[in-house]
Amino acid sequence: MLLGVNVDHVATVRQARGETEPDPAIAAVLAILGGADGITVHLREDRRHIQDRDLKLLREIVFTELNLEMAATDEMIGIALRVKPDMVTLVPEKRAELTTEGGLNLKKNRNQLKKAVKMLQGTCLPTGKKGIPVSLFINPSITDVEESKKIGARMVEIHTGIYANAKGKKQLQELTRVKKAVKKALGAGLAVNAGHGLNYTNVKKVASVKGLRGLYIGHSIISRSVFVGVEKAVREMKKLIKESE
Ligand code: PXP
Repeated sequence: MLLGVNVDHVATVRQARGETEPDPAIAAVLAILGGADGITVHLREDRRHIQDRDLKLLREIVFTELNLEMAATDEMIGIALRVKPDMVTLVPEKRAELTTEGGLNLKKNRNQLKKAVKMLQGTCLPTGKKGIPVSLFINPSITDVEESKKIGARMVEIHTGIYANAKGKKQLQELTRVKKAVKKALGAGLAVNAGHGLNYTNVKKVASVKGLRGLYIGHSIISRSVFVGVEKAVREMKKLIKESE
């Protein structure tokens, strides 16, 4: 199973001072040395952490998978088509939120998402190449999987935030919802990822879900990196995931 490491919070520390360090590009290199299969950044409308410069630089240096998380706005679509990450994950974005709070509202934003998927996945790329595969960040719900298929995305990322924050029986119930959504999405021919809120203690149960393509993890890995270094933090997470597969 792939591990995509989100390096946004390295940029959060940098932006806290408005300085040039720590640099998320350096974190990305160390994460790859630690075994990350890909690097994720979320370029937010308010540029609170990752900057346009970071994305451009990462495109130059990340030869594994560069995953751009973004809102489905015209500005972001334009940036993605110029920078050409290896994949785009469309996420909901609210200015006041501390982190992405839930999956996309697919019904409400169907037309906007359809347009973004169509433009990114290929019809509008001048190169004639197959375009940028799009993943939709969705809640673990059967109807959201069905809706994602209709929207035309090649991938989904199942939101594990509620699972991650729940305890005991509630957590197991949430895990069942995740498993059902994964199964439904695989049956629909979608590639399926999962992420949000995963850490060194709750990752194993999700990593053992059959058929998952990859996990996308940021906060817990960057937090541990402060104490043990990026490379070791990634290596430890990668080991837990491998042991659970
Ligand atoms: N997946 C998506 C779509 C996200 O928005 C985020 C947070 O940026 C993550 C995964 C990673 O979540 P966390 O930082 O809680 O590991």
